[in-house]
Amino acid sequence: MRKRYLNLIFVLLLSASQLFAVEGMWLPSLIHKNIEEMQQMGLQLSAGDLYAEDGPSIKDAIVRFGRGCTGAFISPEGLLLTNHHCGYGQIQSHSSVENDYLTDGFWAASRDEELPNPGLTITMLVRMENVTAQVMEALNPGLTEEERSRAVRDISRQIANEAKEDGRFDAMVNPFYYGNEYYLFVYDVYHDVRLVGAPPSAVGKFGGDVDNWMWPRHSGDFALFRVYADGENLPAEYSQDNIPYRPEHFFPVSNRGLEIHDFTMVYGFPGRTTRYLTSDAVEFITQKENPMGIDVRTRILQIYEQEMAQSDHVRIQYATKHARVSNAWKRWKGENRGLERLNALDVKLAQENEFRQWAKNEPAASHYKGLMDAFETTHRQYHPYRFALRLYAEAGRSVEITRFAEQFSRLVSISKENPAEEEKLQAEIERLKSVADNYFKDYHLNTDRKIFEEMTRYYIRYAQDGFLPDVLMDAQKKYGDDMEKFAHDIFRKTIFDSRESVMDLLENYRVRDHRKIERDLAYKHAAGMSRWIENEIQQPHQQLQNSLDSLYRLYTAGLRAMEPETNFFPDANSTLRISYGRVEGSYPRDAVQFLPFSTAEGILEKNAQKEIQDYAISERLENLLGKKDYGDFAKDGDLVVNFIASNHTTGGNSGSPVLDGQGNLIGLNFDRSWESTMSDIMFDPGQCRNISVNSQYVLWVIAKYAGMEYLLEEMNIVQ
Ligand code: ARG
Ligand code: GLU
Repeated sequence: MRKRYLNLIFVLLLSASQLFAVEGMWLPSLIHKNIEEMQQMGLQLSAGDLYAEDGPSIKDAIVRFGRGCTGAFISPEGLLLTNHHCGYGQIQSHSSVENDYLTDGFWAASRDEELPNPGLTITMLVRMENVTAQVMEALNPGLTEEERSRAVRDISRQIANEAKEDGRFDAMVNPFYYGNEYYLFVYDVYHDVRLVGAPPSAVGKFGGDVDNWMWPRHSGDFALFRVYADGENLPAEYSQDNIPYRPEHFFPVSNRGLEIHDFTMVYGFPGRTTRYLTSDAVEFITQKENPMGIDVRTRILQIYEQEMAQSDHVRIQYATKHARVSNAWKRWKGENRGLERLNALDVKLAQENEFRQWAKNEPAASHYKGLMDAFETTHRQYHPYRFALRLYAEAGRSVEITRFAEQFSRLVSISKENPAEEEKLQAEIERLKSVADNYFKDYHLNTDRKIFEEMTRYYIRYAQDGFLPDVLMDAQKKYGDDMEKFAHDIFRKTIFDSRESVMDLLENYRVRDHRKIERDLAYKHAAGMSRWIENEIQQPHQQLQNSLDSLYRLYTAGLRAMEPETNFFPDANSTLRISYGRVEGSYPRDAVQFLPFSTAEGILEKNAQKEIQDYAISERLENLLGKKDYGDFAKDGDLVVNFIASNHTTGGNSGSPVLDGQGNLIGLNFDRSWESTMSDIMFDPGQCRNISVNSQYVLWVIAKYAGMEYLLEEMNIVQ
């Protein structure tokens, strides 16, 4: 009896969560296929409100920020909200010891004080179009996979070029479902984007790497920019005469406060998912690729941390490097754990069995027979090459001196092949000077030498039979296990270890100096490694990758034919998508429940752990929060800082607006919980939660903490 009762609860819980957490990142122009479900969950808008081409719609308030993030317009005057970690590079570039905006924050007191960011662009989708028929028409049936990809590239470029209207727009054709469908995307790109405000890192990055990928979280991960345009509201290079861009749509910002189970949607530019991977690939990722990456990076982080602990200078130099290495390291660990918990391998195998049966029994599906076997064979050939590339990327490219030395290969080739082209040579020398300048600012020789020594060891340990680069084979012959000696020799006689010797080379460069570079041991080693990768790995890797793509193309077509009723979502590919779910917690492990809201009290709680640097805050924040000075931004006496919800998101969704059922901005996406990180491969409605900063906390930081009320005046704040 009791057992049955428990089962019943379990079934109820399961069906409830399945009703609300929805896997998928959907194309805005096809959102009508999901709209009924969304409306049942609480959306009060129509498909046309979300995406339209013949008039303003919500999509017009969303931009790709830089290359890897999303942003949202929140005022009629081009005010743009994105994550602090997305604007980090810009904030850092304006910072100096005297004006340390990373530490203290930055707030433009008026429009004159906003800071331009050369090189930063924002990209808006103008329209999208299914061009599958056009692309298919250009493909003859008998093409090899390589010919096919070339033909696809050509016709895609042709279609995109026509859509660019002589440079007025940017345009691109992207494949979906591994090339079963193709869509054209036409974009508007703006270049004058200015920094308006950023909280101190102790707010914007509160919790740092300790809390990264984790719930509970308490980050004010946001920053404000403004987009400028010419007098016609069109894109223009930076100019003082430019005026704020007037978006077709901007989001009202909610100050209503959230309730558990409220409808949410995330509208942004997710980067990459691999939802349709077969069991062979999942096995390879979980048992080979991820463990290698985790192991290598564990060691890199140890070395960084040792060195950073010994010197404040090194701590600052390696802060960003540490954050970058640690980000994927932590994600892979979560991904492996999550896939294991889901029994992902067995689930995939069962699906593949079903597919096999279907292909065997269904007369119309006979051309899918043998597909699974072909996967197995091709994957078996592909994985050693894939592993070699990953090992090179992780253990090989984590050494800074060789990566830096490699940059001089262009100078070498110009010196040898076109020594008379004075202008070209000078331009390259100037480029290298500025590269060197940046590079040495954050370079610590001792740290790098240790990395070199250790990573060479790891490289040799992990390289599979027949896949050790020849320069490392030679080193092994010469040095045996003594990598310390190897490192010693490489670092002893290189010019690439100090700013002085590199600048000396560049200042007094003569064409015959290419010999000096080519003789340099660090350069030689770097060139040897990359030559080996190019000659031995890249080409077979690409060929096998092409073969796999064609198998996946057949497989995804087959899955859709096998289940014609199912709306399969196309993997994320940095195009605009909508995900939806609701505000909800989860049960991450035995006896633990995640509540969906974190509050300002939690900041003080964490801050009390004085031994954790990432929890340090300013006196001002401590005072305001200590007094519970929440202004008009509290909900039932609490200032809600972050919340979790069941939207399917991935990297690139950072800075995506999180919207309520009426299209008001209730938050800004910035992370996933650790228990969700497998969702790039397999989504679990019970576990997968995206993490957002609450709009009320954003408003509080701007108005109360920074005292920049004037910025709220241009917003439409809904109470
Ligand atoms: N994990 C988030 C995302 O992939 C945030 C990364 C930045 N924050 C950090 N503490 N490193 O990319
Ligand atoms: N932090 C990620 C980003 O920068 C988003 C988190 C995720 O991968 O879901 O895009």
